[in-house]
Amino acid sequence: MKFFIDTANLDDIKKAYKFGILSGVTTNPSLVAKEGVKFEDRIEEIAQVVTEVESVSAEVPPDALTAEEMIQAAEDLIKINGGDEKITIKLPMSLAGLEATRYLSQKGIKTNVTLIFTVNQALLAARAGATYVSPFLGRLDDISEDGVLLVEKIAKLFQIHNLDAQIIAASVRHPDHVTRVALAGAHIATIPYSLIEKLIQHPLTDQGMEKFASDWKK
Ligand code: E4P
Repeated sequence: MKFFIDTANLDDIKKAYKFGILSGVTTNPSLVAKEGVKFEDRIEEIAQVVTEVESVSAEVPPDALTAEEMIQAAEDLIKINGGDEKITIKLPMSLAGLEATRYLSQKGIKTNVTLIFTVNQALLAARAGATYVSPFLGRLDDISEDGVLLVEKIAKLFQIHNLDAQIIAASVRHPDHVTRVALAGAHIATIPYSLIEKLIQHPLTDQGMEKFASDWKK
């Protein structure tokens, strides 16, 4: 399983990129709003920092409701950073979103269908030609459903039917989510920087290093 970072914070992206574990970045309007910056400017800055990744998701504005409006927005977004090929158009799971996904994928533009909460939604997005589908597992857990089980079912379905879309496990909240979606067959987990730090930590690692450091002095 690959890792994307789920943030629009440039410092967090720079820190995580240095670790050599990043294959991409996902953003959304809420994450960019937190930073108080212009959406297109931040996507461009991100694309310039993470030069060696496969994807930087840029979501069409939520007020683009028709396929035509989404395609128009996507055509502007793909010009960012001189037409950077890693810019991936993030589209909502809706009929208009599917129509735009089909159009953009036929043009060879990467797409990420977001806000997926059922296997059927993932199947439709994959059939429309999505490069990535993003099931939001944490938000399902929040309403007492099983987000990891959804990822597992989508992975099984894509395998049975030889569908190429990659599953981005999104809305990932804690280390156990990461382990479980990796075992469930997610191709990618998109996670905040705080979670990357949590994945690194273990008290026995810290204790072991302290012991080695004190013994070294002897
Ligand atoms: C993914 O692309 C989304 O930006 C994200 O994972 C949503 O997570 P949240 O439920 O924590 O907002």
